[in-house]
Amino acid sequence: MDTIATTDFIHVYEPGTDTDRRPLLLLHGTGGDESDLLGLGRMVAPGASLLSPRGKVLEGAMPRFFRRLSEGVFDEDDLRRRTHELADFVNWARERHGLAAPVAVGFSNGANIAASLLLLRPEVLAGAALLRAMSPFAKPPQAQLAGKRVLILSGAMDPIVPADDAERLAHTLSSNGATVDHRVLPSGHGLSQPDIGLLKGWLMGA
Ligand code: MLT
Repeated sequence: MDTIATTDFIHVYEPGTDTDRRPLLLLHGTGGDESDLLGLGRMVAPGASLLSPRGKVLEGAMPRFFRRLSEGVFDEDDLRRRTHELADFVNWARERHGLAAPVAVGFSNGANIAASLLLLRPEVLAGAALLRAMSPFAKPPQAQLAGKRVLILSGAMDPIVPADDAERLAHTLSSNGATVDHRVLPSGHGLSQPDIGLLKGWLMGA
């Protein structure tokens, strides 16, 4: 396996003030960066430590967490490599800052690599909120996900994520033992107010 131990992600770390709160690993969408989801993180988990890396792959000028061949068609070799790289970064950050395993909050491309982290490196995350996520692998690997809570928020009118693809992801994660709450909202690919409320409520139990 192509595991690379590197910790050189551009990132923001915001120490929390509430030690009862799980840290959040914030993973932005295509074209975003490490500052994109900080406001969301502060809103949905006040007082939590926030760890927010920038994806290292550039599509034109747009940062992403892994390469794709076209929209919705992923370079799975690159995805595997980048997933291990991100997992090693999270482990490094946990050690450096004395953090518990974080809950990932990923949007779009960030949600897709969070799903890949769950499948390839489940020990790195306590759980994950996957916002507008797709199945990262055509043939998903088996993983031990017992005890992991996962929230999937999909958009009924999402032009990027087909409904059956998000369903397949929910099924993959739950059949590997995760406790999955999958909600389909009357929205598109972008986040809406109901996403925030559902995410905030779900994180209370994290
Ligand atoms: C991806 O490439 O991860 C998905 O197509 C979502 C996106 O970033 O557009």
